[in-house]
Amino acid sequence: MAFTTTHAFTAQPPFKNHPQFAVLKSRQLLAPPISTALYRNKARLFAVAATAAAEKKKRYPGETKGFVEEMRFVAMKLHTKDQSKEGEKEPAGKPVAKWEPTVEGYLKFLMDSKLVYDTLERIVEKAAFPEYAEFRNTGLERSEALSKDLDWFIQQGHTLLPEPPSSSPGISYARYLEELSEKDPPAFLCHFYNIYFAHSAGGRMIGRKVAEKILNGKELNFYRWEAGELPELLQNVREKLNRVAQGWSREEKDHCLEETEKSFMFSGQILQWIASSS
Ligand code: HEM
Repeated sequence: MAFTTTHAFTAQPPFKNHPQFAVLKSRQLLAPPISTALYRNKARLFAVAATAAAEKKKRYPGETKGFVEEMRFVAMKLHTKDQSKEGEKEPAGKPVAKWEPTVEGYLKFLMDSKLVYDTLERIVEKAAFPEYAEFRNTGLERSEALSKDLDWFIQQGHTLLPEPPSSSPGISYARYLEELSEKDPPAFLCHFYNIYFAHSAGGRMIGRKVAEKILNGKELNFYRWEAGELPELLQNVREKLNRVAQGWSREEKDHCLEETEKSFMFSGQILQWIASSS
């Protein structure tokens, strides 16, 4: 065991009880009384340094676990208090339990979601930046599942839409993602993370509530992951995101985190199709 001078300043009872402490003391290798003031100053310096280090840590919560944890931390704070216990925003509008969904509104939500997932999956397939290729075939893809669900609604006699809409939150989000992906990987991957992970968490809970209210409890393919166990699929993507982010500067990481709010804005608009009963 190496006894540094730091140990000498802060010797705590367990250390004092250590047999080697007695040996050191007997050889007068430990703090002589004359320099108590000096030690006190040094201790203060250590305390200041420790506080500064803690301050720095506070700036990037989750950092030690990897970058995904930083993204999660930022995302959780953007939830309203009724959406999640980690949420910090005041509730705006009715809580999910009080939503009064209609099949018509839910279909618009599913169609807009399909536009977004089609776009994400096309972007990683094309891989304008090599790191996007990491995110092909993660098992989290939702485009095919949504196609099956929309087919099911048609079989049930529902009409999707009389004509393709010229604008919708899904079209705006898809356009935004397409453009962003061509020029800004950290910002794009923030959306990638938030869309897939939000769907696996709050999205699933919303899907269950809607199904109870308007689909006789039928579970759609959108909420089923056939490629493997969901926690494992998510963990694999976390690891890939963490690896990609290791190559980013702190500025790029911050830029990625700052994009979270936009992801909430766009996804929130798409969710409105279910929340408002039109
Ligand atoms: C009505 C809307 C929403 C509800 C009720 C909701 C609820 C939740 C809940 C309960 C969790 C799980 C928290 C936990 O790990 O204990 C969660 C996680 C999360 N949500 Fe939401 N959320 C909503 C909307 C959103 C939106 C719009 C986004 C972003 C686009 C988002 C992004 C996330 C992310 C990234 C996580 C972390 C997932 C993980 O750790 O694997 N959520 N949400």
